[in-house]
Formats: sequence, C-alpha cells, structure tokens
Amino acid sequence: ERGGYKHFMLKEIHEQPGACAQTLQVLVGERGFDLTPWGLPPELLRSLSSVHLVACGTSWHAALVGKFYLETLAGVPCRVDYASEFRYREPLVPPSSLVVGITQSGETADTLAAMRLAKDKQALVGSICNVRGAMAERLSEVKLPTSAGPEIGVASTKAFTSQLVALLVLALAWRRARGEADEALERRLFHLPYDLQQALHTDSSVEGVAGELQHARNALYLGRGVLYPIALEGALKLKEISYVHAEGYPAGEMKHGPIALLDEDFPVIGLCPAFELTEKTLSNLEEVRARKAPVYVVGDGEHPRLREIAQRLVPLPRLPWPLLPIVAVVPLQLLAYRVAVLRGCDVDQPRNLAKSVTVE
Ligand code: M6R
Repeated sequence: ERGGYKHFMLKEIHEQPGACAQTLQVLVGERGFDLTPWGLPPELLRSLSSVHLVACGTSWHAALVGKFYLETLAGVPCRVDYASEFRYREPLVPPSSLVVGITQSGETADTLAAMRLAKDKQALVGSICNVRGAMAERLSEVKLPTSAGPEIGVASTKAFTSQLVALLVLALAWRRARGEADEALERRLFHLPYDLQQALHTDSSVEGVAGELQHARNALYLGRGVLYPIALEGALKLKEISYVHAEGYPAGEMKHGPIALLDEDFPVIGLCPAFELTEKTLSNLEEVRARKAPVYVVGDGEHPRLREIAQRLVPLPRLPWPLLPIVAVVPLQLLAYRVAVLRGCDVDQPRNLAKSVTVE
C-alpha cells in the first residue's frame, strides 16, 4: 500500500505532481478559470468585498500564501486567521465577505467552529477541502475541492500543495471575473506538475543537508514575501516529524531578535530563489553568515554570491512568483523526512499527534 516507498510521507511527497495536476483538472478542466460549478459564478465574485481565510497548522500556512494570491493577483482584500483564534474573539466580518475554511480532513474542530461562526455572521461560507462529503463541505455553500487523494502520513504534504493550487485558481478566476485575466499565468499553471517533478530531483542534494542537520538541536528557516509562509511550513515539518526545534521567520525580522540566538551550532535554512526579494534575502543571509551560523540555501543556483555564502545549496528553477511557494516547499518536506529517518523517528506516526484534530 506504500507503493514501494518506505513511508507514506515519502510516497505522498512523490505524489505531488499528480495531486496538483488532478486538483487543477477537477477545478478548471477544459472549462477555463470559471468557478461557477463550485458555487462562485463571476457575477458573485464581483459582488464580494473581501475574503477571510481560516485554518489550522499546515492549512493555515496555505492561507498565508493565499493572501498573496488574492490580494496581488485578484486585488481583493484578504485576512487570515488561525481558526482557534477567530472563533474566540469577536471577528469583524464585513458585509459581502467570503469566509473560507481550508482543511485537508474537513473535520478539524476549530476550523468547523470558525466556519459556523462566519455563517452566523451572515458571511458566504466556503471550503477548500480534500475529503468529499466531509463536514467542512457540508457546512459550505462554496465547495472548492482539492483532489490530492487520501493522505495517510500525519505530516501534510500533497494536501498542502494542492491547497495552494486551489487558492491560486481562486485568485485567477477572481481576476478573470474582474475582466483582467492573466492568461499567461493561467497557461503556465498547467506546467506546474513538471516543475514539481523537477523539484523531487533535489532529493540528492537535500540528503547532504540532512546529514549535516541531523544532530542539530535548533534550526531557523528564513524567507521573505510569499516564501515566508514556506519558511513556517519547513519549520513545522521539521518539528513534527524529527523533533528538532525549529522556527520560521520573515528574513527581515531577524535583526529584531532572533539573530541573538545564532552561533556555529544554530543552522539556518534560507529560501532565496530568483524573485524580487532575492537581494534583500541574500543580505539577511550574509548577516547570518557573519555570526558563523551554518547557512543552507534553497534557492537560485545561478546566483554567484548565494553560492559563496551557502554551505550547501539546493537549486530551485526560475519560476513565476506564484509558483515558487508550491515548488520550494518540496525540498523542505524532503529535508524534514530525511532528518527524521536519520534520527530514527517514526515518520508516519509522530508522537503526540493525530491525523485529524477533532477535539478542541
Ligand atoms: O485537516 P486539516 O487541514 O484541517 O488539519 C490541520 C492541521 O491539523 C494539520 O495541517 C497539521 O498541522 C499537520 N500535522 C501538519 O503537517
């Protein structure tokens, strides 16, 4: 059942090209970027004033990326909340808001409670969910399915990248509804499964990083912009399956505190692909290097200064910015997996964790 893979997590990491292709096919197919079948016809999209994304854990990281997609590509104001925070305050849900619960399982108690609260506040409620007929879908008027197939490993991988695809489709459909379709990006998205296939080939260089990281007690993941949520996700993956303390931080915030932690025993993983924030991120990584912390980079392999400061560099291809988070997370998933295996951890069943958190 693990298809020749040693663990479900590794199998599911490798299923990502297919999971994203299938998600795209089901959501968009030959029909184009029109979400009418899922409850979001163009005229409804045009009438909405804002979006609110609520989720937990890895799905919350997807929401943080989704905010970039929705605000930058679709021009719609977007707020993001942990479902467990949203539900225990008095959140302002403006009239004509869409509130979307993002959840792999569709059964996470806090996410469902946040969706119910949004419904009480007269919002249009939607879900991005991987399980057909799950409670999150039953609570929703707008149901955007991800089609990653069953995810067994406790660490979410293919469900996450499929959520990012669904959020990008939502942003592109919204943009189209406003009469400003980005046809080049719409077409480019269909090539994503090939990019993900390439990203899986980073495993050999990731193994080298894992070998050096396996005895670390701490790690810091740094990213900027749309890659900051991916830094959070890389850190969460390492924490949950390898039990190595890790934090994700926006690279520009490092000098406001965490830099005090750094020394030769505190490895830093920098996300620095070719994008508009490459130079800014690079200068933060130079500050890290100056504190003698080992620097590992997942980024632009053709950048000479980056190659110089990186103790090891996992190369990422050049991609349009919306695809970067979807591709850049793959080597971080592989890194967490490799470190966990080297440390002898139970990858698919990490201690204290359940696949779906149906209690509060
Ligand atoms: O099923 P959901 O997407 O609602 O689950 C949310 C979180 O419990 C989940 O993403 C959790 O953080 C994973 N263990 C992350 O790998």
